Amino acid sequence: MRVLGIETSCDETAAAVVTEGGDVLSDVVRSQVALHAPYGGVVPEVAARDHARAVVPVVREALSRAGVSAAEIDGVAVTSRPGLSGALLVGLQAAKGLAWAAGKPLVGVDHLVGHLLAVFLRRGGAPPQDERPSFPYVALLASGGHTAIYRVDGPAIGAIRELGATRDDAAGEAFDKVAKLLGLGYPGGPVVDRLAAGGDAAAAADAVPALMARKESLEFSFSGIKSAVARHVAKRGRPEGQALRDLCAAFQGAVVDALVQKTVRAARAEGIGRVVLAGGVAANQGLRARMAAACERRGLALFVPPFASCTDNGAMIAYAGALRLAAGERDTLDLAPETRTALPRVTRKGGGAR
Ligand code: KG4
Ligand code: ZN
Repeated sequence: MRVLGIETSCDETAAAVVTEGGDVLSDVVRSQVALHAPYGGVVPEVAARDHARAVVPVVREALSRAGVSAAEIDGVAVTSRPGLSGALLVGLQAAKGLAWAAGKPLVGVDHLVGHLLAVFLRRGGAPPQDERPSFPYVALLASGGHTAIYRVDGPAIGAIRELGATRDDAAGEAFDKVAKLLGLGYPGGPVVDRLAAGGDAAAAADAVPALMARKESLEFSFSGIKSAVARHVAKRGRPEGQALRDLCAAFQGAVVDALVQKTVRAARAEGIGRVVLAGGVAANQGLRARMAAACERRGLALFVPPFASCTDNGAMIAYAGALRLAAGERDTLDLAPETRTALPRVTRKGGGAR
């Protein structure tokens, strides 16, 4: 089975053709980063309008790189939630039009489920089977829009359970906001990551609070650390040179420590020996290194998908959709965008204990 996946939930217009086994036949991602950079974040109307311009050429490119026509695919999968409604609507309309015209089944995919299953994608030189986890696993999903830990017992919505999430900002959002405060541009993750590598966290520890208020909780809060950096910058001005690298190291270290400790704690509490990273923040070198060390210390197997599978892409949507189609599931042309995920939340925004 070959499924076309379309993703337009945020600031990437993406399309891919993937088999039911997870083999990526094509994967086209057109980023809008440069469009939103002047504003320091994603502008929803700008995003939707650009998706409308890009979606048809991106889908054509994905089909052509996979060497298939619309008539030769077995179904169309599309991100239907969560995301910006205007942006989602563009992908949904494109997917419906194509599915209807080509007489193919349509399935909506929850973007977060796509991220959580991206570890099964096989790109180019296919990794051996044992580099993919078996169910159940504990997954840390950290992106610009979401940060949560899940127990994943299978690919269906009902088999995925949130164990804890952020009460305020997502981890990637914290990177983006701190980068903006420091005058580093958008998106912030990659540049903070690069600067942090040359910094000494201890030298800037006074500017950054620890993030581990309640040890047993699996919830996160990243808004306090952003405010602390803002106060530091207001008082002392924007740091430069080594002081900037030190501050980036201290900030990244605090965020990464919270992500690593709570993920490992979740795996232990669930009695699960497999840990999976997902989402754009999984590209972070500090996170990869500390998670690998922490998992090794505790005898947990860590699975980190390649970068292209961590950030937003169409392949993860195509694959999650292929599994839905294989299970005999279909959506109708009434499928509507939803701003919220279908995964039940246990973490109250703005409340609870961390
Ligand atoms: O998953 P993603 O591509 O898009 C969604 O938000 O769904 O994630 C983008 C986020 C941005 O906030 C970006 O700053 C962050 O991932 N990011 C990173 C790194 N690369 C991207 N954060 C920390 N370190 C990185 N190397
Ligand atoms: Zn995403």
